[in-house]
Amino acid sequence: MTGTLDIERLGRRAEAMIEELAAISEEPDRLTRRFLTPEHKRAAHLVAQWMAEATMVTSEDALGTVRGHYAAQGETAGANAVPRLLVGSHIDTVINAGKYDGMLGVVAGILAIEHFRDAGRRFPFAVDVLAFGDEEGSRFPTVLSSSAALAGTFEPRWLDGTDRDGITLRQAMQDYGLDPGAVGTAAMARDEALAYVEIHIEQGPVLERANQPIGVVTSIAGQYRTRVTVGGMAGHAGTVPMPIRQDALLAAAEMALAAEAIAKARHEAAMVATVGQMTINPGAINVIPDRVAFVLDLRASSDAPRMEALVLFQKRAEAIAAARGCTVAFETYHDCPTAGCAPWLQDGLVQAATALGIDAPRLVSGAGHDGQSMARLTDFAMIFVRCKGGISHNPAEFSTSADMGAAVATLIRFIEGFDPARRPAG
Ligand code: GLV
Ligand code: MN
Ligand code: MN
Repeated sequence: MTGTLDIERLGRRAEAMIEELAAISEEPDRLTRRFLTPEHKRAAHLVAQWMAEATMVTSEDALGTVRGHYAAQGETAGANAVPRLLVGSHIDTVINAGKYDGMLGVVAGILAIEHFRDAGRRFPFAVDVLAFGDEEGSRFPTVLSSSAALAGTFEPRWLDGTDRDGITLRQAMQDYGLDPGAVGTAAMARDEALAYVEIHIEQGPVLERANQPIGVVTSIAGQYRTRVTVGGMAGHAGTVPMPIRQDALLAAAEMALAAEAIAKARHEAAMVATVGQMTINPGAINVIPDRVAFVLDLRASSDAPRMEALVLFQKRAEAIAAARGCTVAFETYHDCPTAGCAPWLQDGLVQAATALGIDAPRLVSGAGHDGQSMARLTDFAMIFVRCKGGISHNPAEFSTSADMGAAVATLIRFIEGFDPARRPAG
């Protein structure tokens, strides 16, 4: 370990950097920064500038992920890739976002490296700080695509997915200045990656209730995103009698309620179902809707109940559609299994917190994270930071600078004590 840490200062720096990032938005009055937009690019530039100031060598990979490389002891530029500890999070946001989700993890990684720069400290391994661009999946029908590319699991068909304006991911990459044909170059070799560690706000109430600033994540819930398209028959709102309507919206509404009932009946699996996006066609006040599409976001703490629930939902949705003279079709474009955080890394994080006098409890993540992709490449673990009221995906999202400082300090102590030899064989 090297010296004492000024936790207050680290927290204040995190807060100031988060504020700066939060000012970069697609919309004037709220924070929205979707993947591969000009605002994503501006945020990426700012992050790269901070990384460079912290003496990292910066680069942008084929998916626009910013990488800051803090060289290992004695590492010479241009030498063969040195094994590295990966630290990061994301800089894209949901629509009308809070400012901590993702940003905190990127800023924390940079602050940790700033600390080592100031202490003149290098390690036998390199540290790469990563700023991913597609964790939220709020633009294209992809989720975690930038971390998937780094983990070598990007699926080429994702390039054909379109955003709400009909722009394909392929086109958006070109507009951003990226080469869709080069996606494979983003993949990191397994022996290059020693582990992936991420700091993130909790986005739930557990730490606040436990009265603890930070916690250590044990696993991340699995998730489906399934597009449900309901077909009915358009008709005149004033003339078609109620009993003979084929109203696609009413069928879709009943399906959303069915999803709610299915999830509520499985609370032991921490199941949650959400319909947060629905498009209604033709979208006129006096026309019975003939086509409705929505996305079911379905999550659970283990995979078997989640799979069973999706099958059951599809059955119920088919019955609802049939009873209303409608059709229904399903397309699951995101199926991410439950991902466990590596026990040796969890223990390392708990020890790092303990060394600072913090009693970090272990907890499960209901929210999705880049670690789910990174688990396909290497072991991963996460620190959660208490957030006010457990509120997230909401502009009211808030973490105190003291809690953020505690998380950054824990990350610093963790990196100082990181020993890749502790990774269990196999
Ligand atoms: C990302 O925040 C997700 O869990 O959807
Ligand atoms: Mn996030
Ligand atoms: Mn989020």
